[in-house]
Amino acid sequence: MKHTTPKFPALLHGGDYNPGQWLDRPDILEQDIVLMKEAGCNVMSLGIFDWIRLEPQEGRYDFDWLEAIIDRLYANGIYTVLATPSGARPSWMAQKYPEVLRVGNDGERILFSGRHNHCLSSPVYRKKVHDINTALAKRFGAHPAVILWHISNEYGGECHCELCQENFRKWLKKKYKTLDALNRAYWSAFWSHTYTDWSQLHSSSEHGEHSIHNLVLDWKRFTTDMTVDFMKAEAAPIREICPDIPVTTNMMELYSGLNYYKFKDICDVLSWDNYPLWHSEGENSVPIHTAMAHDMIRSIHPGKPWLMMESSPSATNWQPVCKLRRPGMHMLASLQAVAHGSDSVQYFQWRKGRGGSEKFHGAVVDHYGKSDTRVFREVSAVGSRLKNLSPSLCGTEYPAKAAILYDVENRWAIEQMQGLHNGNQGYMEELEAFYAPFFHRGVNVDLVDMESDLSGYELLIAPMLYMFRAGIGEKLRRFVKEGGTLVMSCFSGIVDENDLCYLGGMPGEGMMEVLGLRSEETDALYPQDRNTALITHSLPGMKPSYEIHSLCDLIHLSTAKPLAEYGKDFYAGLPALTANTFGKGKAYYVACRMESAFYEDFLGALFQELSLLPPVSLPEKVTVNTRINSDTGAAYYIFQNFNSFPILLDLPEGWTDTETNTPVSQLSIEGYGVRVVSPSQC
Ligand code: GLA
Ligand code: ZN
Repeated sequence: MKHTTPKFPALLHGGDYNPGQWLDRPDILEQDIVLMKEAGCNVMSLGIFDWIRLEPQEGRYDFDWLEAIIDRLYANGIYTVLATPSGARPSWMAQKYPEVLRVGNDGERILFSGRHNHCLSSPVYRKKVHDINTALAKRFGAHPAVILWHISNEYGGECHCELCQENFRKWLKKKYKTLDALNRAYWSAFWSHTYTDWSQLHSSSEHGEHSIHNLVLDWKRFTTDMTVDFMKAEAAPIREICPDIPVTTNMMELYSGLNYYKFKDICDVLSWDNYPLWHSEGENSVPIHTAMAHDMIRSIHPGKPWLMMESSPSATNWQPVCKLRRPGMHMLASLQAVAHGSDSVQYFQWRKGRGGSEKFHGAVVDHYGKSDTRVFREVSAVGSRLKNLSPSLCGTEYPAKAAILYDVENRWAIEQMQGLHNGNQGYMEELEAFYAPFFHRGVNVDLVDMESDLSGYELLIAPMLYMFRAGIGEKLRRFVKEGGTLVMSCFSGIVDENDLCYLGGMPGEGMMEVLGLRSEETDALYPQDRNTALITHSLPGMKPSYEIHSLCDLIHLSTAKPLAEYGKDFYAGLPALTANTFGKGKAYYVACRMESAFYEDFLGALFQELSLLPPVSLPEKVTVNTRINSDTGAAYYIFQNFNSFPILLDLPEGWTDTETNTPVSQLSIEGYGVRVVSPSQC
């Protein structure tokens, strides 16, 4: 097993702590320690937005107050996740070096404001960050309390200043070498957009070039690379001075501004900030959506434990409706993350500030300031459960035999495409439709991108894999040939990595042979239009027909066998679902988008065939995830009940409740409850 924080290998419980806002209130800082212990906290994240306190004047560092806090926490059994302060710069810096501030896509420099408002290229900003990070690493790198570096905060956004334009041009020159190659990759004869000099190249934006699709993609790829490079530069002194302390950066939910998979090598540990819209109108889909987001982040390092760096113990003040978490939901939401492989439950924020835009954001400690509150009690309950579960679960892995291909570049390409359903191509909805059966049946699944290693999986789902890149055609061919089961859906294999359409038939890169078919046209349906898939060859558990919406590929079969056909329209009778045997494996093609029951039944049949199902059948809105101790082989099944009412499950013989270490045959789970059980003695 590999722990996320080897220095303190335990499930972490704590949150973002901002003592820098309370330095004139020593009584409150003292009280914090008492309350943290009462809430069962063992970690705090410090220094995230404290640059002005750490360097009140250029070159004059003041770390004494921070050291006093870290020492006091440590003396009370609370470890520190130490942040670099680059998420927000001090006003003296913006005033003296305006170039550290970002330039918007209209060419205007943004004034000193907000946070994350920094240029990724600015040598001054990079130098200032390097210097303060070096000083922090020197001062705290050997401190026994510091278990993890939290690099910056939620990297995101882009800068269009001249320095960034220059860097973009350099990046393009390195990639394409010649303008000729670039023009070919951009299909730039279109609308006479051919570049005749490198200096003509400019970042893409609504205000500027956005009709050359591969330029738009390159700008996004560049922004990701620049951010990774920035993080690398930030982390460099830390890695040099304290190589044994792991680094992370906190990510955001399915955020598409960056390709997070490119952060794989720079993060020792992955972490993300989780703010679901609990109890919203779409409550049925919120647990599924959240589960998918957990799985996406973990899959950057497949199987490995990760950290939930932030979550709100109550209302989240930037959501459209800032609803309170209903009693019990905090426990469920916290342990859902653990079920998906998190080794922590951390909050934004420990204590509500008195002012600023986050003064109403949920916190463990309210303005009231004491522990006799509903939220505090719920947080404390999570603290004591984590403490009890820690010896069993901490460091355990998340084994998955199935994966869904979620590739951010594919998402970018789909979202900018003109055709089918402009404004909303429904890609993320389709992804979620394929994901939902994994949630409902309790099957562990990874979300991998096209650069990931696919060899360990038995089932691979490729929803709308419109763009093929990173040799995915060849990888999929090998995967199926060697015995894997592939499910690919409509409008896949249309463009290559330059967003240029394949010639000679789709899906491209040899997939016509693997799937045994060719797709000729794709019909986009109006929102109210429906077609029907009539099942002609049923897999176990499938219904006679399913409703179709949104998209229908018109396909012609070579070696594939039809499993369903369209019920109406001019393409009635053409195949809507097919299967092809290729090598030792099987490749299915779902030629259209269907009602959710189809995905449940079809994937349910494949789960059964491939023996992926857990040994317990699950009622509605109840799921289970499995974690495994790779040293001992012990498995832990973490059942989650997203209903507000209790349920009862029959377990196979000989299972044990991990928390009480007592045998259990019938498992009762209260409304919004979680139970952890193991097939073997713990
Ligand atoms: C993000 C940030 C935090 C805080 C929370 C509020 O996750 O990282 O600093 O602003 O949002 O939900
Ligand atoms: Zn810039």
